[in-house]
Amino acid sequence: MPVKTARPEELEPIERASRDEIAALQLQRLCWSLRHSWDNVPAFRRKCEAQQVHPDDLRQLSDLARFPFMTKDDLREHYPFGLFAVPRERLARLHASSGTTGKPVVAGYTANDLDHWAQLVARSLRAAGVRPGDMVHNAYGYGMFTGGLGAHYGIERAGCCVVPMSGGQTEKQVQQILDFRPDAIMVTPSYALVIAEEFARLGVGPDDISLSVGIFGAEPWGEGMRAELERRLGIDAIDIYGLTEVIGPGVANECIETKDGPVIWEDHFYPEIIDPVTGAVLADGQEGELVFTSLTKEAFPVIRFRTRDLTRLLPPTARAFRRMGKITGRSDDMLIIRGVNVFPTQIEELILGDPRLAGTYQLVVSRDAHLDALEVRCELQREAGRMGAAGRAGVAGELAQRIKTRIGVSAQVTVLDADAIPRTLVGKAKRVIDERPRPA
Ligand code: DLL
Repeated sequence: MPVKTARPEELEPIERASRDEIAALQLQRLCWSLRHSWDNVPAFRRKCEAQQVHPDDLRQLSDLARFPFMTKDDLREHYPFGLFAVPRERLARLHASSGTTGKPVVAGYTANDLDHWAQLVARSLRAAGVRPGDMVHNAYGYGMFTGGLGAHYGIERAGCCVVPMSGGQTEKQVQQILDFRPDAIMVTPSYALVIAEEFARLGVGPDDISLSVGIFGAEPWGEGMRAELERRLGIDAIDIYGLTEVIGPGVANECIETKDGPVIWEDHFYPEIIDPVTGAVLADGQEGELVFTSLTKEAFPVIRFRTRDLTRLLPPTARAFRRMGKITGRSDDMLIIRGVNVFPTQIEELILGDPRLAGTYQLVVSRDAHLDALEVRCELQREAGRMGAAGRAGVAGELAQRIKTRIGVSAQVTVLDADAIPRTLVGKAKRVIDERPRPA
């Protein structure tokens, strides 16, 4: 299948601008965004005053490092609308993210914000090789989650036909894909795998699936998962990144011709990487916590928002903007098991390295006589057929050995039948069950 690389004339001029042109636009927009927050968000102004910094202090992009961070605690404290910079009458839409603890995070948008968002998701689709006239099956959840509606309006803006399927009802999803023959699918990678399994159950092979591209995000996934989804669905699997606080999906998106990490749409979101402990800004290429400042958002501007996502900034390739590496984990969901830092994606890579195992898995962390214990529950591929106890023990032993040598942690591996682990049909997969008592 030919890769649908965008021709230069199909790109927006800023996508092929020089770094100097991009920096000039960023500086101009950053001045506006800081001033907008200062004038309209009292909590931001107070934090700046406490740190003795003023929007006029921004003379070059690196001066941003002098400004205070915004964290999830700030959002909780000012729930629901306390950090909005426009009066309620100017809001055109609200979204919220589930939030693992406490109150949800609420994001507000003006009509202009929604317009920019649709434009950026459309740009993301183009980067993924989707073209006007294509049909896109949207299985991100509709509702308060930004995935469904965020993708929806971007698909329309890209000149495509949207199938607003939302999550769940796997059999119906698959039947509809078979009947309507869409060109692309937007969905979480874990649910894409569920859809792929349903195709396999029906005996439909990759050559008989109309899809040529999948745009996957909302949860971490690695190269092993990319290979698995591409093989099972006969597609190019492309990474889309975003978060509610910053706008939703379409903060960054991979290009189909390079598949080398999501390109950050730097004309709207200014990225920094910081040391998660000291807060110091790190150089491009170094791994740390991703921080975003919105450059154009009106309703809910974010200045130096700490995403907790761990990654690094990479130089431009297919576009003029910088890229981000795969998210290797979050500075707050990293598991520490008997002193070893473990990211679920590391274990995912090792599971997918064994062709007998499927990509669905769960990590159960418990505490046994003051010692942490890690159980890795994984499943046989359906094609692996039935396997006796001895065969399973062999697969489990090999995986446990690889986890020990690569990650440095002992794990008890349980190999289950295909489909034994409950699937997440709507929203994000729950990969980690942490049964350890919470520290008092
Ligand atoms: O998940 C927005 C989104 C919807 C992105 C659909 C892509 C597709 P939240 O619910 O606020 O927003 O969750 C944001 O999800 O901080 C990351 O930890 C994680 N995440 C999102 N995209 C990716 C990705 C949406 N491509 C949080 N790779 C973020 C890894 C991702 N993690």
